[in-house]
Amino acid sequence: MIKTRWYKDAVVYQIYPRSFCDSNGDGIGDLRGIISKLDYIKDLGVDAVWLSPIYKSPNDDNGYDISDYTDIMDEFGTLDDFKELLEGLHSRGIKLIMDLVANHTSDEHYWFRESKKSVDNPYRDYYIWRKGRGKDGKKPPNNWTSSFGGKAWEYDETTGEWYLHLFSRKQPDLNWENPKVRQEIADICNYWMDMGVDGFRCDVITYISKKSGLPDGKFNPIFCGSEQYVVGPRYHEFIKELNAASWSRYDSFTVGEAAGITISNAYECIDESVCELDTVFSFEHLCYADMYFLVIPHRLSLKKFKKILGSWQALPKTCQNTLFLENHDQPRSLGRFTGNYSGFRYEAATALAVAMQLQRGTPFVYQGQEIGMTNCKFADKDYQDIMFRQIMDIVKYIPFGKCLARYCFSRRARDHARTPMQWSAGENAGFSSGKPWMMVNPNYKFINANKDMSADKSIYKFYAKLHAYRKGNDVIIDGDYKDICPNSSDIFAYERKLGDKTVLVVVNFKNKAVKFKLPAEYVGRASQLQLSNYADAQERIADTKLRPYEASVYSVD
Ligand code: NOJ
Repeated sequence: MIKTRWYKDAVVYQIYPRSFCDSNGDGIGDLRGIISKLDYIKDLGVDAVWLSPIYKSPNDDNGYDISDYTDIMDEFGTLDDFKELLEGLHSRGIKLIMDLVANHTSDEHYWFRESKKSVDNPYRDYYIWRKGRGKDGKKPPNNWTSSFGGKAWEYDETTGEWYLHLFSRKQPDLNWENPKVRQEIADICNYWMDMGVDGFRCDVITYISKKSGLPDGKFNPIFCGSEQYVVGPRYHEFIKELNAASWSRYDSFTVGEAAGITISNAYECIDESVCELDTVFSFEHLCYADMYFLVIPHRLSLKKFKKILGSWQALPKTCQNTLFLENHDQPRSLGRFTGNYSGFRYEAATALAVAMQLQRGTPFVYQGQEIGMTNCKFADKDYQDIMFRQIMDIVKYIPFGKCLARYCFSRRARDHARTPMQWSAGENAGFSSGKPWMMVNPNYKFINANKDMSADKSIYKFYAKLHAYRKGNDVIIDGDYKDICPNSSDIFAYERKLGDKTVLVVVNFKNKAVKFKLPAEYVGRASQLQLSNYADAQERIADTKLRPYEASVYSVD
């Protein structure tokens, strides 16, 4: 199969189906709800949709705990609905990528239910079972912790052994050392791709290979043990094998969720020559630019942010980047990356879009980002995420633990991205005619798709314009990248250059006017405005005072 690498000139729109659109009034988004919004997606000018998991699941972690990889979650609809959705996307020229959750399954998956039954069950070795430590085996096999807090092992009475779960106890880790497991995963990928699916976003894919012997991790009260499994010893071998057995047989696109892939090992993970993943989501730019110790939020350091993004831009062009600020695990980007944007919501949201999307890579837009949805104010009872419940349960033993955790969650909770999509100013923001599974952000009367799309300053329409500008634009797809203001804490400005074509992107990240001095090498050259979030932006680039969140793009001769 010839790989066209269509993703190089594509924008991907992520849908979190549970919160996107509910067609039957049960308060939970579903596939027919998505089908009803296909023209909205098409008109945004995106090329592909990534669906967060839609498979059968008991929903301990909203679908990231799968109990049947070949069927659709009851609340979301049926396989026929799925086929209609796929057809509806394809007929509009939009590809579909699914979420492949292959590090773990649900404990309600048939394989795990069998695996639990006895030590000699044929499925026993599909998971990671170990005897406990201590005389009676009642201490976990090692000191690893789960990403959701607490130990990463669960004791099972039936056989008196422990199983590993790097996430919740209802998400047992698969044993990738077992070739049968690897074959099952390849078969699952082929099943969906034979149906017409165009690729996968691979959930926590860097965790699949654990160091043999499962040694203790270095002491770390929050994430203990990760150095024993992040991009583990057989990671590359497993991914190459899966690529050969499945992905490479189709004109596919794969993007790995890749904690642990940094600029230092990116080449060996995503270069076209290695035949592994096509690209990855790295989290360096999200974590290090605005968190202390990876946990406590602080103000964005624009300089750090640009430096990290720039280091990824410097990879060879055979390594594709992803360009994103939001997903279902991240808080909303307005505020997080813009500071106080009061009075400038349109300008701030569109400035972020320009700054990110004109770098080299595949942009991802998360549902609601295109209308400037924001974080929500939650009381403890409003949080739905298992992570909130588990962490609050642990920190209650620490003095001021709950207060500190509440502060962190108010800024960083995953729930911020999961409030229902705000379609209109009507009941439940037009998301559902029933009671939504989680609270609607009360600002929906003011922020909603209907209102945005009919406003003079429409964020949605700006995104559509930006996508049209990118489409087929070889300087943006392939050009070199150079940060032209690396020392500015206020301005993000860069050059894209391919052959004799040059584009300059200039974005003010501040809520006030900021002076921009045009670097000497561009002074006196002819230039032409291509795109701006201010209707009266100057036609030629020059020294200027950029207005709050002003973002303009120029071609330069
Ligand atoms: C990453 C997913 O994005 C997140 O939502 C999920 O909780 C974990 N992986 C576990 O699957």
